[in-house]
Amino acid sequence: MAQQEDVFKKLVSHCKEYGFVFPSSEIYDGLGAVYDYGQNGVELKNNIKKYWWDSMTLLNENVVGIDSAIFMHPTIWKASGHVDAFNDPLIDNKDSKKRYRADVLIEEQLAKFEDKINKEVEKAEKKFGEAFDKEQFLSTNPRVLENQEKKDELHARFAKALNDSNLEELRQIILDYEVVCPISGTRNWTDVRQFNLMFSTEMGSTSDGAMKIYLRPETAQGIFVNFLNVQKSGRMKVPFGIAQIGKAFRNEIVARQFIFRMREFEQMEMQFFVRPGEELEWFAKWKEIRLKWHKALGMGDSMYRYHDHEKLAHYANAATDIEFRMPFGFKEVEGIHSRTDFDLGSHEKYSGKKIQYFDPELNQSYVPYVIETSIGVDRMFLSIMAGSFCEEELEGGDTRVVLKLPPALAPIKLAILPLVKKDGLPEMARKIMNELKFEFNCQYDEKDTVGKRYRRQDAIGTPYCVTIDYDSLNDNCVTIRHRDTMEQERVAISALRDIIADKVSVKNLLKKIVE
Ligand code: GAP
Repeated sequence: MAQQEDVFKKLVSHCKEYGFVFPSSEIYDGLGAVYDYGQNGVELKNNIKKYWWDSMTLLNENVVGIDSAIFMHPTIWKASGHVDAFNDPLIDNKDSKKRYRADVLIEEQLAKFEDKINKEVEKAEKKFGEAFDKEQFLSTNPRVLENQEKKDELHARFAKALNDSNLEELRQIILDYEVVCPISGTRNWTDVRQFNLMFSTEMGSTSDGAMKIYLRPETAQGIFVNFLNVQKSGRMKVPFGIAQIGKAFRNEIVARQFIFRMREFEQMEMQFFVRPGEELEWFAKWKEIRLKWHKALGMGDSMYRYHDHEKLAHYANAATDIEFRMPFGFKEVEGIHSRTDFDLGSHEKYSGKKIQYFDPELNQSYVPYVIETSIGVDRMFLSIMAGSFCEEELEGGDTRVVLKLPPALAPIKLAILPLVKKDGLPEMARKIMNELKFEFNCQYDEKDTVGKRYRRQDAIGTPYCVTIDYDSLNDNCVTIRHRDTMEQERVAISALRDIIADKVSVKNLLKKIVE
């Protein structure tokens, strides 16, 4: 675990050193849980967004996009339930004066039981080698069973307290399990209180006063309130979906773990409108499609898992998360929810406008049911960075830090490196760059030895480096060096475009989803 924390720290400083992510307002000592993306970060982020957007709007003829405003009528947040119920239970430690989410403290306690079980499994795997039967071990080993029982007991108590919104019981669990504040080390806790996560501001200035409005805490509501606009103007037939990418804002109580939990972040959400009664079938379909989307990136299937929700929001009849194995454990990257007709129905009620779809096949009108897929761009970014970050020992004792980014997402696709800064090599390199720059993000670099230049490109995840040497002047060939294998091959300059295009295209990722 300590080793993983170490990796995470290295990753955070790597992000800063190589222009991926900077703390916001750094020269003023930063602003809590707000980050800026640098020159490489913005490219990676844009590539992630493109991959998601294309997977929604190109692969599905019945999914279209919108871009709604961040400011919306305040009653929308009343209708959605956010004004009354978008709360986190918070608890303060009286000695350290630090504030925590009560539910997160309990989840960490649950994770401790899980860790203990995993350690037993690891030990036994080492001891028994190939003869190890994991299923049997999990169902018979006394230490595993003891920890599993403790975990189940805590889990049941925790789920009931959340379902009943029983804040006293949440506090009691924290006391009973002797949870200590990581800063003060004490168990001197306050009561648990609810805290609304929405940021508000004021719009206009009339004699009656300005109107209180909110910064949207999710992009989804912009889709719901445009349901009729899109359905009518696009002559959309149920089932159909509306996709959107945009900023969301939450006044998170505990903002930790870098860009995992931010106060300003970006979401990629898609609401898929279906006939009532068909929602669970569509839920299962989207669950599968979304996991394929993640796995197509080639980070390793074991890096992902589903986490089905036992505690469902009052409007949902099924929900699951796709979790990624971050350096700090498996964490939610995406949520897939079957949201019933709650949102559209509620907007009907609050707006007084009929929000229904006439289904010509059934010859009846209804409020469609909704399957939502919702993924955080920043969390996706973090998962990609964490899954790609490697420190490698090379032959001869040398080391390198390399980001093994999926080539289609890499900020720079191709580095163009003249061997020396003279004798016509830079001119030839520039000529290659001028031809390829229309299609790929290329970087020209002539400073330092080629070895040092390779390392710089490894550190930002550039999948291909092209070196132009003296032979190139005569044979019109260059050397391509592959980031992951460090293998080099000699290719004709005229073949370069096709070789690179095949490897870095988003198209190939998209194809894997529909395979
Ligand atoms: N419309 C549904 C919705 O907003 P959510 O589970 O609250 O559901 C969806 O958020 C996704 O947005 C999460 O899976 C996560 O990737 C991202 N997200 C939520 N809060 C975030 C935060 N504070 N910082 C970064 N990403 C966040």
